[in-house]
Amino acid sequence: MSAAPEQAPILAYAICPLDDISNRRGRAFQLLQRAPDGGQKAFSIFVVRWGSQVFGYVNRCPHTGANLDWERNQFLDPGGQRLMCGKHGALFEIGTGRCVEGPCAGQGLEPVPVAVIGGDVCVIGVEMVADDDSGTGAA
Ligand code: FES
Repeated sequence: MSAAPEQAPILAYAICPLDDISNRRGRAFQLLQRAPDGGQKAFSIFVVRWGSQVFGYVNRCPHTGANLDWERNQFLDPGGQRLMCGKHGALFEIGTGRCVEGPCAGQGLEPVPVAVIGGDVCVIGVEMVADDDSGTGAA
């Protein structure tokens, strides 16, 4: 009889309390990701809160690679219904990141798996590097 294969634990890295993001607003995070060579790699993301749900994306517009926020933590269009790139106004669905209007229509934002665990917004399945590299921050 063979033992069940061991599964790697699911990584969950807390980035902030859910209450630090206002409802129907976004917030940018400058994080560090573990690179394949063991080094560190910048990981610039944003998270949008919609009630108790959160959606995460890499903060990079598919049009030119620019950050989406035209002002600090401004990710939504004036109507508050879609994500908007401040550079040329591309509009994206909040839930899917798909561009529905603008110069990159049909393309999409790169999703970042996020979840609320114990009241904290956590990045899931990405090996992160803590600020002090001591491993703190893991949920
Ligand atoms: S850089 Fe985002 S629409 Fe042009």
